Amino acid sequence: MAKKTVANLTDAEVAGKRVLVRADFNVPQDDQGTITDDTRIRAALPTIQMLMDKGAKVLLSSHMGRPKGKVNETMRLTPVATRLSELLGKPVTMCSDCIGDAVANVVAGMGNGDVALLENVRFYAEEEANDPAFAEKLAANADLYVNDAFGTAHRAHASTEGVTKYLSPSVAGLLIEKELDYLQNAIDNPQRPLAAIIGGSKVSSKIGVIETLLEKCDKLLIGGGMVFTFYKARGLNVGKSLVEEDKLELAKSLEAAAKEKGVELLLPTDVIVADNFAPDANAQTVSVENIPDGWMGLDIGPDSVKTFQAALADCKCVIWNGPMGVFEFDKFAAGTEAIAHTLAELTPKGTVTIIGGGDSVAAVEKVGVAETMSHISTGGGASLELLEGKVLPGIAALDEA
Ligand code: 3PG
Repeated sequence: MAKKTVANLTDAEVAGKRVLVRADFNVPQDDQGTITDDTRIRAALPTIQMLMDKGAKVLLSSHMGRPKGKVNETMRLTPVATRLSELLGKPVTMCSDCIGDAVANVVAGMGNGDVALLENVRFYAEEEANDPAFAEKLAANADLYVNDAFGTAHRAHASTEGVTKYLSPSVAGLLIEKELDYLQNAIDNPQRPLAAIIGGSKVSSKIGVIETLLEKCDKLLIGGGMVFTFYKARGLNVGKSLVEEDKLELAKSLEAAAKEKGVELLLPTDVIVADNFAPDANAQTVSVENIPDGWMGLDIGPDSVKTFQAALADCKCVIWNGPMGVFEFDKFAAGTEAIAHTLAELTPKGTVTIIGGGDSVAAVEKVGVAETMSHISTGGGASLELLEGKVLPGIAALDEA
């Protein structure tokens, strides 16, 4: 990785210093404000622990939700401070604000190795506007900056990008380093055969990633609702299935591009169709040539699963983004779950398995195989943009190694 990281900082650069650490603590909570998945909090621990061990005063910052520039009581970071202190085994002071005297007063009372959490940066509209004066205020209570918010690295906001202009050094945290090691490396230095499994409901949201992966992959497996746009483009009847009419030509050109580049592009051969979009809909398995009028495809079928498994068997690296069907409905979860199990079986045999994107992460967690995968990205939009080959502003702004 070309960026300087927190591991490159000497003890002298860190000890006794106020270090502003941007993390992505945007975690799901239930109606009671209980955190239902603390993966992102645990993912930030190595950086926090390293800074504590080096004697820094660790000032954590994050957003939570989309409060649109106003204080929103349901989006306070207090539950995160509580969870963090449990995980770190020491108190984490919750600040009532993210800038100004409220923070300065907390910092003044901090000793080396202490940790405090600033309040939600998105309570200020200036955060998302990347306002320089606001970035300067964030920087005012710190001496140096560490960005470990991989999930927010695709946003050019004050706490992810603007603040780097006011703090030096500005370096990457260990989570960002790890995410890049897997995601970037997988496409920049591919271990072949390299396969990508792309799912989700719309081709339009995955055009960029499909186009980029067609340049890098040996095999591209496509599932999810987007396959019906490909079938319709091939002239097949897709019944009531989801189709993006304005993407038919695009689907054709992606298939042509795969052929031209010698990429094996696999679409499902059979699908589970339903008579309506509901968890208890009537369902049947049909070949893709026989989708009945009035029915819609909601999952890939068992033959497709076997074809996909066979295609993945010899792969050295597999990147997965997007579910194979409507896996929130148990009746239409089998395809997605089978892919999760397949990757879990391939990993101990030496295949590098990388799960990028919110829904596929939820799927491997639902199936209980998350621990088995080589890497599960903490970024949804960020990992997609990275795989698309886009520059992530929160990373680009950091010091070079
Ligand atoms: C996420 O959950 O994907 C990140 O925290 C970014 O959130 P955002 O899409 O609201 O910027």
